[in-house]
Amino acid sequence: KIENVNNEKKLAALEAVKYVQNGMIVGLGTGSTSAYMIEKLGEEVSNGLDIQGVPSSERSAALAEEYGIPLVSLNEVVELDITIDGADEFDPGLQLIKGGGGALLREKILAHNSKMNIIIADSGKAVSKLGKFKLPIEIIPFAANSIIAELHKMGLKPELRKNREGEFRTDENNLIVDVDIWDHEDLTQLNLDLLNIPGVVETGLFLKTTDILIMGKDKEVVTYK
Ligand code: A5P
Repeated sequence: KIENVNNEKKLAALEAVKYVQNGMIVGLGTGSTSAYMIEKLGEEVSNGLDIQGVPSSERSAALAEEYGIPLVSLNEVVELDITIDGADEFDPGLQLIKGGGGALLREKILAHNSKMNIIIADSGKAVSKLGKFKLPIEIIPFAANSIIAELHKMGLKPELRKNREGEFRTDENNLIVDVDIWDHEDLTQLNLDLLNIPGVVETGLFLKTTDILIMGKDKEVVTYK
């Protein structure tokens, strides 16, 4: 089962790398699916592909360095040609929940500043309606308890994300709260309501950024546009 899922991730990643051309500035996503993409890009770079990568996390930066991909910061390039990233869920409208790995803020910034966004996923990420996966929200530690109280009032059952060391910290040193959005139909409005709370930095709802979604399904790839 896990082997099959990993194979689907890899198939999607390899297909997405075909869109990368010489001279491009490439946004590098975060997560296990993106890791296959970074590995393959590194292979292409060693075969002569001339690109520069902008990583969406410290983790992906380390991986890209390991595979020999030249890196630049977003501030040096301002705009990206293409970004390839994973997702935790996608619906038929190519709306996404992201942030399972906690990199949603930098991921959303890259998606916003990229001319083309390709999402790569295994078939288990496809849903008819978003929200079985809890929506990650990045918040500023100063406001944590007041934001959590407000999210409770909104009926979103917030849970502060923890790891072995205690509270999970993002690359921007913020916190993540995971919320239950299953009962919400108007995700555009919900997203705005969340972003309107002072101290909420970003949400993992990616509603309009995806240009192409490549899904691995058994031994094939399916491309949605
Ligand atoms: C990282 O913050 C997320 O947005 C990832 O894109 C997401 O968690 C996908 O991860 P996998 O590729 O490991 O499923």
